[in-house]
Amino acid sequence: MDYLEPGQTRHLLPALPYSHAALEPHIDTQTMTLHHDMHHASYVTNLNAALERYPELHQRSALWLLLNLSKVPQKIRTAVRNNAGGHVNHSLYWRAMTPAAGGAPVGPLADAIERDFGGFEQFKFQFTETGGTLFGSGWVWLARSQQDGGKLRVYTTSGHDNPLMQGHFPILVNDVWEHAYYLKHGNRRGDYLQDWWAVVDWEEAAIRFETSDQFALQEWEDEGGLVLRASG
Ligand SMILES: [Fe+2]
Repeated sequence: MDYLEPGQTRHLLPALPYSHAALEPHIDTQTMTLHHDMHHASYVTNLNAALERYPELHQRSALWLLLNLSKVPQKIRTAVRNNAGGHVNHSLYWRAMTPAAGGAPVGPLADAIERDFGGFEQFKFQFTETGGTLFGSGWVWLARSQQDGGKLRVYTTSGHDNPLMQGHFPILVNDVWEHAYYLKHGNRRGDYLQDWWAVVDWEEAAIRFETSDQFALQEWEDEGGLVLRASG
């Protein structure tokens, strides 16, 4: 593993996979612009800054750092947890959405949702309710356990924690920090959560579900830690 040159940064802001306006009217252009270009960018900047004096750690992917916090010096551990998590989770969030969203999951993911929630509408209700009742800032997830037969579950994480920190593979995610919705929806988080269904990329979620069996950390070592397919 080569060391970085002084001033070289390991972590980079990924481009949005669509334009800032592409998710209108469900998610507005100004929110997307601030969210990606300012908020996500700041996590990347702050992660690089925290790691500047730790070249061996600076070589590691954001996901590796998040899953190996015990190997991160106490002095920067909180900064790394918050900013690596912010980077990984936002990278996943952009890819969870698409302007070509299509209604509902099909195939094995649809079968698993039926099995574990009793149906798609029941799942949507639980996801929306769970995201709506999180106290403070965080994320709402559909995640797959790596034990108990790969059961699907819906829950929230606080701050920028990720389900992989508790051994669950993230299938689908929504950002319920206020910065994700406040400009358009004000304090009506429930409206944002409802509107968001119109932009969910079920194809991406299906691929994540179908590859979750073969989860291997080294395949996630790309920037943001979550590239499971070539983006096009
Ligand atoms: Fe966010």
